[in-house]
This record gives sequence, structure tokens and C-alpha cells, in this order.
Amino acid sequence: MTLRIVLCAILVICCGPIEFSHGQTDVETLLSQMTLKEKIGQMTMITLNAVSKGDLPFTPKEPHEFDPERLKRVITDYQVGTIFNIGHHAFSKSYWRQIVTELQNQTRTGTRLKIPLLYGVDALHGMSFSTDATFTPHQIGLAATWNPDLVRQASRITAYEARAAGIPWVFSPAAEPGRNPIHSRFYESFGEDPLLCAAMTAATVSGYTEADTYERVGATLKHFIGYTIPRTGRDRSGADMAEHMLRDIFLPPYAAGIKAGAQSVILNLADVNGLPIHGSRYWVQGVLKDELGFKGVVVSDWNSVDYLYFHHHVAKDSRQAIEQAVNAGIDLVMVPFDLTFVDHLESLVNEGRVAVTRIDDAVRRVLTFKKDLGLFEEPILPETRYPLYGSETFAAVSRRAAAESLTLLKNTNKTLPLAKTAKVLVTGFGADTMTTLNGGWSYTWQGREADAYNPEGVTILDAIRAQVGEDHVVFVETALDRSDQIDSAVNAATGVDAVILCLGEIPYAEVFGNIDDLTLNPSQLELARRLGERGKPVIVVLTQGRPTIISTIEKKMDAILLAYLPGNEGGHAIADVLFGRVNPSGKLPYTYPAGPNALFTYDHKHSEIYSFHVLYPFGWGLSYTEFSYQNLRVSPNRLYPADTLTVSVEVTNTGDRPGQEVVQLFISDLYASISPPVKRLKGFQKVALSQGETQTVTFTLTAKDLAFVNAENHLTAEAGEFTASIGGLNEPFILTASREVTW
Ligand code: BGC
Repeated sequence: MTLRIVLCAILVICCGPIEFSHGQTDVETLLSQMTLKEKIGQMTMITLNAVSKGDLPFTPKEPHEFDPERLKRVITDYQVGTIFNIGHHAFSKSYWRQIVTELQNQTRTGTRLKIPLLYGVDALHGMSFSTDATFTPHQIGLAATWNPDLVRQASRITAYEARAAGIPWVFSPAAEPGRNPIHSRFYESFGEDPLLCAAMTAATVSGYTEADTYERVGATLKHFIGYTIPRTGRDRSGADMAEHMLRDIFLPPYAAGIKAGAQSVILNLADVNGLPIHGSRYWVQGVLKDELGFKGVVVSDWNSVDYLYFHHHVAKDSRQAIEQAVNAGIDLVMVPFDLTFVDHLESLVNEGRVAVTRIDDAVRRVLTFKKDLGLFEEPILPETRYPLYGSETFAAVSRRAAAESLTLLKNTNKTLPLAKTAKVLVTGFGADTMTTLNGGWSYTWQGREADAYNPEGVTILDAIRAQVGEDHVVFVETALDRSDQIDSAVNAATGVDAVILCLGEIPYAEVFGNIDDLTLNPSQLELARRLGERGKPVIVVLTQGRPTIISTIEKKMDAILLAYLPGNEGGHAIADVLFGRVNPSGKLPYTYPAGPNALFTYDHKHSEIYSFHVLYPFGWGLSYTEFSYQNLRVSPNRLYPADTLTVSVEVTNTGDRPGQEVVQLFISDLYASISPPVKRLKGFQKVALSQGETQTVTFTLTAKDLAFVNAENHLTAEAGEFTASIGGLNEPFILTASREVTW
């Protein structure tokens, strides 16, 4: 028996069934019984590491063992109400259940009021710190499906599997548009567009929260607000942006996520215009809670209250930082190790620097969240309640999501799909590894151990072999930065019909993904260049979290398939598209830059038109069939602010096979009080069309859809002239009068 199994057995023996006897818990009654210290404990969030054996901060690794003294100090002495983990380890579902059960038991036996513990995890593309869960594509890939219903299905799976592992709360989705592709967290976003992000955020939140109590989890919108446009491109650097633009671009996904039922929000740990969000009463209490009406729990990010003093220098010490943050409206503090937070906050309240009413507001929100998650009744249901965990059924949804995300950027002379009889050379460092399919936040924080955790995982190479047979595949390993292996790959191209070249990025997360140059690594470019000279069709498959610059090789490649970070089913999905089992339908959720200094978004200003230069535009993606658009109609062509307007268009599959098309409606505001973007996405629908089929697609617009945030920071639809565009067709219309609207 391995040590791990022995430890599991010990845990099982120690863990009796947990019950919390609150029945129909009344939050107000509970609150009235709590001491100040108990209340502050409910506002405190500590890592699993802080109660485990091993050296802080970056333990435990497997096998996990609790440290009884630390556990008692955190849960009994300090009454800490929330624990979360950071990713230096992945456990099986059963192991997670034992860990969370033990924590609940400690809470039940070691605290006066027995308020159940809340456990949270970063489940960014599935329960991705579990060894046996279903991994879906990362958000950037899910966005490329342009299929909110599929995204909802994917997040329902995550919710189910998190609950099965005993975990009721996930720190996902990242709601904000990724506006700077250099940022190491770009792949955690749904791309650059506010409307697409809003739709996908709402779909994800619905998927997390819509099932019955024991199959749903608490959803977290993050990182409020302005995190994803760092001024230096580096993680944790601040943003500089006029408030009206910040509101215009970043608020819509939060508003949509809150409406869809998100119960928690994690804040941006950086500053915006020099004002750290964690200390900003204006943004937290004012905009998030009062204006957007957010009733849930506002959570600080990792160590980010302390950041106010040692990172941002807006507080003179940790105590003053806590005063600023709690008064700004933060309800739950991700400490993450240090319990002096509790002592400081207690003394701040006793001195009247933080009002008891503020503490009560925070605790009320936390308790209501716990109640809503069913924790007071039965925090964990039996394992047998979850037969679909890690099932083929779930894997099929993930495979479909991965396949629908794949974006065919280029396909000269119909290079793709390849015939199943073709002999192919498979090479490139991403060909035979699970790491580049999954990226960061996979098994571990940085995601570099995916092959060790998932030795049976199906790589791109495995999937191609499975589809066309071993004897049709030549594989030459080309590790990253091993230019000496390039010759072998180039020589092997002689005897094949086509080359499948798997390029991209090694996994990273947060600051470890900071880069000086967005250009694809030089040895990969060299490999592509040399293969491109062999006279054989070269198909590039890109597994990457952000759009690496490939302009120097792009023209020499025959086909380019962008796979983003498609997850554990990505190998299958890529092979499905390469050999024509699936007709690609993914569309770019961002503008693919042509050069490292050409970082545009599609919704740039008119004044930038002359320098606008991109490799592939936002919304781009080819299919193996063709679509044509006709009869764009806007009716009526004068919109009165209280009325609605209909935009319709006919789309036809004119090619030789069935396919899915994403119909994208853009609106241009021809003139406005603030220089308008050239266009803005205002609606989209993904439609499946068989060969020769025509469908009419209809969008309904109101004045709100034409609104933008003006210089006074009001969301306003201004009277004037507009153009609706779909698939290259344009129709003018007029908004007859201005109107202020609300989120
Ligand atoms: C990240 C958050 C994450 C948290 C907990 C922070 O460093 O910014 O996105 O949820 O860690 O792991």
C-alpha cells in the first residue's frame, strides 16, 4: 500500500459524518449570537497550506497531512470561516472530499456556533486541481465557440464535479475583457469584446448556479475592475484609463454576471489611475454594491489588502491597510496565511475606526452565501450521489466545446481537411504533451506537470494516430529551444504528404507568464520556416494562451488552426478538425496582432484607421464550407427610445457540407459626444446550416443597445445616425432622441 493510500485510510477513519444542526438557519438570529471575534473569523479566508504540515508558503505537496496544531489555531482559536487552496498539488475527488470533510468536522467540534466552513477553489477550466475531473477549454477557447449554451453546459459540469469533490465555491469566471494580449492572464478572459464577455460570463454563472443545491456552486466574478489592461502588459501592474471608458468596456460583463446570479466578486489587486481598487470605497461600495446592486460577498485577492501598504504605498502599515479595505466594502479577506488580520480588525472595531454595522454587513453576506449553498444542512453529500464525475458523457461535452473553439485562421487551397489516407509528419514541441493543451491552472498553478498527473492523456499525436493509424504517422520530437532537432524534422518531411506542426506556448500563470516580447519563440519560428521550404503542405496547430506573433512565417504556412488551450479533450478535437470529422466553426474572440507593437482592438477609434494593421480580425474563422449573406433589413429605420428595432439577415450555406456560422451584428455610431469606436458588436447567433440551406437570423435592439458611457459617466443613448453591419452588408438607421439608461 502506498503512503498516500494509508493517509487516505487514516483520514476516512478520523472523519465521521458531518451534520450541522441549524435546520432552517436564520442569518439574523445567528448574527445576533456572534461575538466580534466570531464575526471577524467569518470575514477571514486562509489557505489549506496554513493548516497543513510542511513549510509555508508553498506546501503541501502530496500526500497531504493536516497539522493538528495549525488546524486548531485557525479554526478553533481564530474561528476562521473560509479555506481555499492554491495550486501546488492536485488530488483525486475522494481525497478532496476527505480533506474538506476533516475541515468541516473540525469546525463542528471545535467552534461554539458550528458555522459550517466555506471551501473555495480556482476551477478555471473544470475542477482543474483534481487528478480525475473533466477539464474543459480555458475561457479564451470557450469564447471562441461563440456558443453560450455550450459554455453553460461546460460550467454545469464543473459545478457538479466541484460539488462531488466536496467543494461548493469556485473562483471563476474572469468576467473582464482581455484588452492587452501581452498580459499573462489573457487566456483566462473571454477575449476583448464587452458583449461577448457579458454573454459568456452570464452563461458560465448560470451553469455554475442553476442546478439543485448539491450540483451547483457559488460563482465568482473577477477581478473587479480594470485588471486586464495592465499599463506595462505585466501582471499586477495598474491601468490608466478615463472612468467613462473603464465603465464602458469593463462594467457590462459584471452587470451581466450579477444578473445571472453570481454571489461573489474578487477584486482587482492593482491600481486604476493610481487608486488601488482594494482601498476604493468609490468602486467597491459605490459602484459594485450600490450602483450595480451586488448583494453577495466582495472578496479581496491574494494578500491584496496588505498590498495597499507594501505594494501600493497608500497605507502606512498593515493595520491601516485593513481599515481602508474593510471600510471600502470588502467582506471576506484572502489573508492568505497571516492571522494578524483578525487581531488588527478587532482592535480597529474596538477603537471605532471600523463600524460594527460594516462588520455586520460583511458577515451577513458571508452567512447568506453559506446558507444559499446549503452548507448549514449538509455540506457534503455521499460520493455515490455523483455517478457522472469524470464520465465519458462529460468528456464528450468537453470535446465538443474544444472542437467548436478551434479557429481555422488560414486554409490555402483547401489544404484541410486532410484525407484519412494521407501520410503525415507530426512535429513541434506541442505535439506529444498534455501541458500545452491545458496551459496554466491545470493540476498545478503553473500547469507544467500535466503529463505526470495525466499519463494516459491523449496528446495531439496520440489522437492523430488513433484516427488515421500508426503507419500513416511519422513523429519527430522537437523540444523547445533544441535547434539541433530541426534537421531531423525537416528531413522527415521528405517522405510524407503533409506536415502537422504543433507550435505554441509553454504553460504559465500570473506573474510567471510575464514576457518582454509577444513573438513566438525563435526556434519554433525557425522550424516552421525550414519546414515551409520543403514544398510539402505545412499545417500549423497553435496551442497558446495569447496571440503570439507569427507574421514572419504566416505566409509560408498552408493552413493555421488556432486551438487556444483546449483542455484534456483537445487532442481528439484537433484531430477531428484536421481530418474532417468536425467542420470548424470557432471565431476569434480577439484581434490577432500582426506585430508586437501593433496591438489593436477591433473597436478602435476612427483616428486609428490609418495605422490599423492586424493579422486576423476579431470574429474571423474559416469553415470547410462557405456562407453568403443577403437581404439585411433594419425595421423600422427610425428608433424611438421607448421602442424596439429589428435587424434581420438571410444567411445561406453555399458550400458542399453542413456547417455552423456565427452571425455577427456590428453597430457603428456615426457621431457622438465622445469619439465613437468604428464599430461595436451588438449581437451574435451561432446557426447550423445544412448544404444549400438558408436561415433568417433576427436581432432585436433597444436604445440601451446603442448606449455608451459619456464624459459624465452616464450610460446614455445619444440621438443620431447609426449603421448596422452583418457579413459585409450595411444598413443605416436613426435614433430619434437621447435617453439615459441603467445597467
Ligand atoms: C489570483 C486570483 C486567484 C487567487 C487564489 C490570486 O493570485 O489573482 O485569480 O483566484 O490567487 O488562488
